Amino acid sequence: MTTGDTAARSLEHWSEAGRTGMEAFYALATEDYRQLALAADWRTLLAERAHEGWSLLDVACGSGKWPTALLRHADLAGLPDLAYDLLDPSEFSVQEARGVLRPPFVARHELVTTLQDLAPEHTAYDVVWATHALYALPPAELDAAAERFVGAIAPGGLGLVAQATATSHYLAFYDAFRAGVRDATPYTTAEQVRDALVGAGADVREQRVRYRTGTSDRTVAEGFLQRCAFDTGVSLEEMEAAPVLGDYLDSCRDAAGSYTFEHEAALLWL
Ligand SMILES: C[S@@+](CC[C@H](N)C(=O)[O-])C[C@H]1O[C@@H](n2cnc3c(N)ncnc32)[C@H](O)[C@@H]1O
Repeated sequence: MTTGDTAARSLEHWSEAGRTGMEAFYALATEDYRQLALAADWRTLLAERAHEGWSLLDVACGSGKWPTALLRHADLAGLPDLAYDLLDPSEFSVQEARGVLRPPFVARHELVTTLQDLAPEHTAYDVVWATHALYALPPAELDAAAERFVGAIAPGGLGLVAQATATSHYLAFYDAFRAGVRDATPYTTAEQVRDALVGAGADVREQRVRYRTGTSDRTVAEGFLQRCAFDTGVSLEEMEAAPVLGDYLDSCRDAAGSYTFEHEAALLWL
């Protein structure tokens, strides 16, 4: 059994070599961002903080599915340009996210680092968000990461972490994968992030959003699930036959063989 490799496998997959897997994942996971875009009045939230020279830090920016969803589903027309800093340990992710930004989001600094290693001088952002972003952050490093997150927000600024809860698909699946296929450091849950943010002095308000994703296409299911584990070496058949993981996948599959995944995201507002 190997342990402690989750963060390393995440970084390895957020790369040009992992592009096919990333695209397979977003066949279903784009819904995570649509749900977030619909969960709040983003225009008002941003307009309340808008001013000339305002700035935003996107923590673990990935390939920019969140700003893409906001630009599609929220009306942001007329907001002043927002200096948009991209933070991610993957240079690939930073460049992918940079490529999708459109006004009012205007790319500024590229911070190729983990959140827990962010230099403390990065502060005074009007908006700081991390959306479906902190799963591979090792739980043991979460307190340091939460301090950096809270410290980056300007007084009166807006912070948001959106993360799946412990019983939601991403966490339940990875726990079953670790038990049945390969041990590794667990993913970090919304509950752990919330507690770390509170421990870092933040006043956190929690909102929960529940939804389902699914497919009857086994190729789509396989690509999605492989990316959920950052492991393209295990086929869907092997996952279905594995102990523990097989039981979890049974619970997601109907008699016709279609998959439905149950999600619960916590929106942690600071
Ligand atoms: C699922 S993506 C995030 C999606 C993104 N919010 C979006 O809008 O598309 C996860 C990202 O977290 C990054 N990541 C992993 N560990 C991290 C850490 N400790 N600190 C910051 N980012 C991290 C990965 O490199 C990856 O790009």
